[in-house]
Amino acid sequence: MNETTNDFFQMVENHRSVRSYHTDREIPPEHERMIVAAAQRSSSSCNLQTYVFISVKDREKRKKIAGICAKQRYVYQANLFYLVCVDLYKMKIATEKAGYRYYQEQFFDSFLMAAMDTAIAAQSAALAAESMGYGICMIGGVRNHPEKIIEIMGLPEKVFPVTGLCVGIPAKTNPIKPRLPLKGVYFDGAYDPQAVEEAIEEYDRVMLESGIYKDREIPLDEVERLDGVDASQNHYGWIEHSARRISSKNPERARAHLRSVLEKAGFGFS
Ligand SMILES: Cc1cc2nc3c(=O)[nH]c(=O)nc-3n(C[C@H](O)[C@H](O)[C@H](O)COP(=O)(O)O)c2cc1C
Repeated sequence: MNETTNDFFQMVENHRSVRSYHTDREIPPEHERMIVAAAQRSSSSCNLQTYVFISVKDREKRKKIAGICAKQRYVYQANLFYLVCVDLYKMKIATEKAGYRYYQEQFFDSFLMAAMDTAIAAQSAALAAESMGYGICMIGGVRNHPEKIIEIMGLPEKVFPVTGLCVGIPAKTNPIKPRLPLKGVYFDGAYDPQAVEEAIEEYDRVMLESGIYKDREIPLDEVERLDGVDASQNHYGWIEHSARRISSKNPERARAHLRSVLEKAGFGFS
């Protein structure tokens, strides 16, 4: 068998985030459950399964959440919208039932482990939905103001939204977005910094030529240039866009308040 041509490879090669859905059609309720049941088959750290998918049905709540997610209209329009959360509340219940002090709640690894499980499950849900012919879009915008979402959804302590997942019947599809050359993300034996630099430069050109950043430039006044750097030759490709994205001093873009929200929600970072 040629392993690059099986159904799974064809499906993943076809992936693109979908941001426009047919709002006049419905997804059968059993599909909604099947998607989460498939996500549950994911690997899970110590089998703790520290995540939860909440399908947001209430239109008013959905509207408020879309507003928090920088008014991304597809959050409101998607046929389904799961709020995907880290869920250590389950572990609080388990430790209390067993009669132990929840010693590890104070440590960062508890959150990291749960966040990994949650992300892995979210991607499995996305693949399940795509295998059924639906389009998906992850929504990190829920982390713009998770404290507001916690309140809107009445989440208990130790439950924290890490992403939204739109699922729906695609009305419009975007072109497939190229990825970094494989040499930038895969090494046979040892990390190769030079290959990474080459990969980034090649990808920069590909993304520049795709025109994807037209009208999407991150304003220069959000970033601070290093002293003595001549930026006159910079073009706005993947390098410039990504560098501005992760250098931005805009507190909304940097989500600078997240740690304090997490601490308030009962997560520790020792
Ligand atoms: C954790 C996560 C959060 C994301 N958040 C958003 C979002 O808030 N809005 C959005 O339109 N796309 C979001 N995306 C989608 C990415 O922009 C998209 O996957 C990436 O640009 C690659 O494009 P593609 O999925 O079409 O291949 C998110 C993706 C991930 C993995």
